[in-house]
This record gives sequence, C-alpha cells and structure tokens, in this order.
Amino acid sequence: MTGIIEAIKGRTSANNFDATHQMTHDEIKELVALANETPTSFNMQNFGLIAVVSPQKKAELKAAAFGQPKVGDAAVTFVVVGKMKGNETLPALIKPMLDAGAIDQAAFDGWIAKCNGMYAGKPQAQREEAIRSGGLVAMTLMYAAHAKGLVSGAMIGFMPDAVSKVVGLTDDEFPVMLIAIGRPAAGNWPRKVRRAIDEVVKFA
Ligand SMILES: Cc1cc2nc3c(=O)[nH]c(=O)nc-3n(C[C@H](O)[C@H](O)[C@H](O)COP(=O)(O)O)c2cc1C
Repeated sequence: MTGIIEAIKGRTSANNFDATHQMTHDEIKELVALANETPTSFNMQNFGLIAVVSPQKKAELKAAAFGQPKVGDAAVTFVVVGKMKGNETLPALIKPMLDAGAIDQAAFDGWIAKCNGMYAGKPQAQREEAIRSGGLVAMTLMYAAHAKGLVSGAMIGFMPDAVSKVVGLTDDEFPVMLIAIGRPAAGNWPRKVRRAIDEVVKFA
C-alpha cells in the first residue's frame, strides 16, 4: 500500500528524456504486463499498446506529435490505442473462464448480452468506452514506469490521423494518448500544484 501511495505522490510528467537510454523488448513487455491488469468495462480490454522504439518510427511519430522532442528521445513512446466494437471480441476473451468452470453458461451468456446491450451498434458509446479504457491503461502504464524507476510523459498533442498512419491502425482503432517512457535527462520541472481538496471534493 505504501508503494502505491509513494507512486501516486512521486510520479510527475517528464519533458526531458535521456536519448541514449534504450529498453529491451522484455523490459517493455514487463511494463505492458503490468498495464494489462487495468480494469475495463465488462473486461472488454478494448485497448492496445504500440511500443514505438525504432529511430525511424519514432521520427515519424514525433512529426505526427508536432515535433515534441520527448517522442523521439524517450526509450519508448507508447501509442495507447482505443478499440471500437469491444463487445464483439468479448466472448472469445472471457471463454477461458467458462471453460475453466469459473462461471457457468448462464453467467457467460448474461455477461455478453449485457455488454451488447450497452455497446452493440452504438459507436459513440464504444468510442467513449475506448477513451475511458485508454485513460485507465495510460495511468497504469505511468505508475508501472514509476515503479521501475523510470519517468513518463503523457501527450494528447498529436494529429490523430497522422499517428494512426504511422503505426498502421485499422478503421476500428484510434489513438487515445501517447506515453513517453524512459530515463530522465536534466531540466525536468518539479511537481506541479493541485487544487485544494475542498475545491475538488463535494459530498452528496
Ligand atoms: C491526457 C493528457 C495529455 C497531455 N498532453 C501533453 C502534451 O501533449 N504535451 C506535454 O508536454 N504534456 C502533456 N501532458 C502532461 C500534462 O501537462 C501534465 O500531466 C500536467 O501538467 C500535470 O503534471 P504532472 O503529470 O507532472 O502531475 C498531458 C497529460 C495528460 C494527462
């Protein structure tokens, strides 16, 4: 618990990254494995993570992100991908629970029916859910990076169509956020101010 509180209080966005730092695919997969524990509506897991590590792709992604240097300098810049039609892929994702006897057929069928009721044929609801999921996975990824002694920087400053093209997203996918992760370089800002608690919370 202390670790979680420390991470919440210790994480800040980095703007300057050590451009000489590289991460192996296994190191990146460790971060992804932690981010993959993120909860999603109905467990649709309607997100993807594209780890951009090659100099060529980083340069292309940086151009699509208005030239933000951290996209190219960080060891890895993730494109957090939102996926439409998550309800359609849900049955295959949760079938292992049915097969293992963790849930019965009625629970399985009800789970899928409720999910379809919320999202089937409702592109706006699908998109909103994919953005919610993307936001949650992005946050988990940033805390995972912090836990590994790395820094992170979230970005919404990018051209969505250009980012989609750089990483080859399908018509049912869209970029939610970019997350640069790596070692910090000098010159990053200190922690930023937050509103007073009484301004944030209302009791009802
Ligand atoms: C959704 C989102 C989008 C952001 N987009 C950018 C961005 O494009 N460029 C940038 O330098 N910082 C970006 N930031 C970083 C924010 O400015 C930063 O999180 C905020 O100032 C709070 O600082 P902290 O993360 O250090 O607590 C973004 C953060 C979030 C959560």
